[in-house]
Amino acid sequence: MQKTGAKGDSYYGRVAQNYEKRRKKQEWWDVEQNEMKSLLETLPEGLSVVDIPFGTGRFVPFYLERQFDISGLDASIEMLNAASQSLGSNLQKCRVSTGSAMDLPFADEQFDLLVSTRFLRDIIVAKDALKALDEFARVTKQFAIIQLGESISKDGEEIDPDHILESRMSDKDNKKMLKDAGFKIVEKRLVKTDKDMNSQIFHFLVKKM
Ligand SMILES: C[S@@+](CC[C@H](N)C(=O)[O-])C[C@H]1O[C@@H](n2cnc3c(N)ncnc32)[C@H](O)[C@@H]1O
Repeated sequence: MQKTGAKGDSYYGRVAQNYEKRRKKQEWWDVEQNEMKSLLETLPEGLSVVDIPFGTGRFVPFYLERQFDISGLDASIEMLNAASQSLGSNLQKCRVSTGSAMDLPFADEQFDLLVSTRFLRDIIVAKDALKALDEFARVTKQFAIIQLGESISKDGEEIDPDHILESRMSDKDNKKMLKDAGFKIVEKRLVKTDKDMNSQIFHFLVKKM
């Protein structure tokens, strides 16, 4: 276990193969799916979307329903192989590539919408999460849906740049972090509460300022 608790390099081999099978047993997987579907329905049809990290492409059926032009990026080729197993021929309707969220191989404002779940909060350390957030803001022209954690108590905790964010941020901290990256919050949807851990997880629908 790394000192930082970052999990960025662990989605290979069997972990990648069993990713969806294991996650689908979590109650909040379905909540995330439903909230994502319903947030996407508030956006225009036919957008270009990029999903980072793409993982197994869990939201692809919803993007297709909205006639989106779909791109995805993930650090792990094995997760993209798992996406192929999970999505079947629908993967051919997506442009997927490997790369790093902190240094995206995309042009400024290349997409209308960026989606990122189960990543900034718990996969990479805080200083990298800020880098990735800046990259997300750079490549989207209009919207983003970004999953972030929040502390249930009003005040967040001090953020160590070398530790994962988890749910240390307060509502105010997240608003500021998103604003500093160039985003205004349109709506936030609760997808998970863990009272013992004093934590909540939200999907933030944000718009470029
Ligand atoms: C928990 S999964 C989330 C996948 C998907 N977004 C979801 O909600 O199921 C984390 C993913 O992040 C990918 N990853 C880790 N570090 C990355 C990085 N620096 N850039 C892009 N992807 C990364 C892993 O390969 C893995 O697929």
